[in-house]
Amino acid sequence: MSSGDGKYTFANPAAEQTRLRRLAQACEEPTRAVLRSAGVSPGMRCLDMGCGPGEVMRLLGAEVEPGGKVTGMDLHASLPGDSLSELRTSSTVGFDFRQIDIELVPAVPGGPYDVVFSRLLLPHVEDPAGIVRKLYDSVAPGGILLLQEFDNTSWQVHPPFDGSDLPRRTLAATFSALGKDPQLAYRLPLLLRAAGATGPVDLRGNSWISSQGPEGAAELLGALEAFRSTALATKTVSEPELRRFERDLRRHYRTNPWSYQLSPTLVSVWTRKPLHYIPPSTDISAPLT
Ligand SMILES: C[S@@+](CC[C@H](N)C(=O)[O-])C[C@H]1O[C@@H](n2cnc3c(N)ncnc32)[C@H](O)[C@@H]1O
Repeated sequence: MSSGDGKYTFANPAAEQTRLRRLAQACEEPTRAVLRSAGVSPGMRCLDMGCGPGEVMRLLGAEVEPGGKVTGMDLHASLPGDSLSELRTSSTVGFDFRQIDIELVPAVPGGPYDVVFSRLLLPHVEDPAGIVRKLYDSVAPGGILLLQEFDNTSWQVHPPFDGSDLPRRTLAATFSALGKDPQLAYRLPLLLRAAGATGPVDLRGNSWISSQGPEGAAELLGALEAFRSTALATKTVSEPELRRFERDLRRHYRTNPWSYQLSPTLVSVWTRKPLHYIPPSTDISAPLT
């Protein structure tokens, strides 16, 4: 992935793929649980929009085997050929990847899908409501749309220290400075309704201890590094503030080596498209011809 086109909020050094894989590992259990709760099952055709390195494609593949299909799509060629062949040799599921910019296509290609999944994509697009509509439109009748986003305002270090909220404050301010909603996660049910979802919407929040012990300082600094350049460019934090935070964090971990970090809350929202779906804009009073 490259950040040259400026479309991705986080800086995209090679380390970004590694960070995404580690993040995906942390999210694996809650994600697998919501796939099951939502009813993802053998034989289904799935799409993972903004699939990144393909970790959720692997999870989807395990749920839809045998007979299922999983297509990943991403702005970047984030799923190199060898990762795709690795997925293909690991199961009988048909895996595919397509490089697209979901903002530039009028509709999701290749649909309809029985499962449309997307995780941590929406904060990076200009019009999240429009993208949710495109995703919902690509769901087959009776199919599932499942979205996951982080609420970063719950990210914290325990015990706290003076200034320990700098990462979550800066991340929220950076999203706001870019015209994006830092609490987008909690708007997901409303975005589904606005996209035309008429069935029940399920909602689940998961957070976990993301690190416990001395390595936590490095982990938190790694997460901060991912959006450091964007935060500096939007002037939501300054170099001296970042240096002070880094110094205080290291000092904190020296005196409190068993500090722990509570992850941001992973908000999962899903709905099924009714089998006999009538888009809300359809005028059902018009005579049939
Ligand atoms: C934070 S990563 C999440 C990756 C993956 N969904 C996961 O949870 O591990 C966001 C992904 O969305 C992709 N993305 C951003 N804007 C996009 C767009 N307009 N169209 C398609 N993908 C996009 C990025 O390239 C990146 O891979």
